[in-house]
Amino acid sequence: MKFFLDTANIKDIREGQAMGVLDGVTTNPSLVAKEGKPFKETVIQICEIVNGPVSAEVTAPDLEGMLEQGRSYAKWHRNVVVKLPTTRDGVKGCKTLAGEGIRVNMTLCFSASQALLVAKAGATYVSPFVGRLDDISTSGMTVVREIVQIYRNYGYPTQVLAASLRHPMHVVEAALAGAHVGTMPFKILEMMFHHPLTDVGMERFAKDWEKANLKDLEKAMK
Ligand code: E4P
Repeated sequence: MKFFLDTANIKDIREGQAMGVLDGVTTNPSLVAKEGKPFKETVIQICEIVNGPVSAEVTAPDLEGMLEQGRSYAKWHRNVVVKLPTTRDGVKGCKTLAGEGIRVNMTLCFSASQALLVAKAGATYVSPFVGRLDDISTSGMTVVREIVQIYRNYGYPTQVLAASLRHPMHVVEAALAGAHVGTMPFKILEMMFHHPLTDVGMERFAKDWEKANLKDLEKAMK
């Protein structure tokens, strides 16, 4: 499973990269706005840190605008993946941009039927939003499982990018479902490292080691 960070925060991306487990980054207009820096500059900076796909989302609601923004973003850096919304115009835009060799991540996907459409339109990634479905009392992970199954049934090359992940169990469940990618906030990546037994084990090893070394010292002093 590939791990993407879902952020536009440069410090977090550098730290994720240093961990050695980062495969890419997804951004969205809310995440970029939060950082308060120019969009193009931010995307290029991320692309230069991460040796992998970096999703940059269009803000135009109409086909013409999406195509214009998408073509322009794709020229910024070879790592850029154009993110389009799963609307009628978004699906049309996906078909066109994919035909031009531009990789597209179809975002705001909430159902298997939407995922079928974007696979047919040649999307490189489909992003089902797990947490936002859970928020409205619908199982987001069920949608991920359905999409993985449907894509397998027909051999669609579109990769399932489980998005809107809110905790480590979402990542684990998405992996069990066979999602190709999980995109997560930095805090979730950090949480994945933690296990109380690892901490207890480390403490015990350190204490035993210290005791053994003290005994050696005592012996040496006799
Ligand atoms: C994915 O590409 C989106 O940016 C993201 O996962 C949305 O997550 P949220 O629902 O926690 O905002």
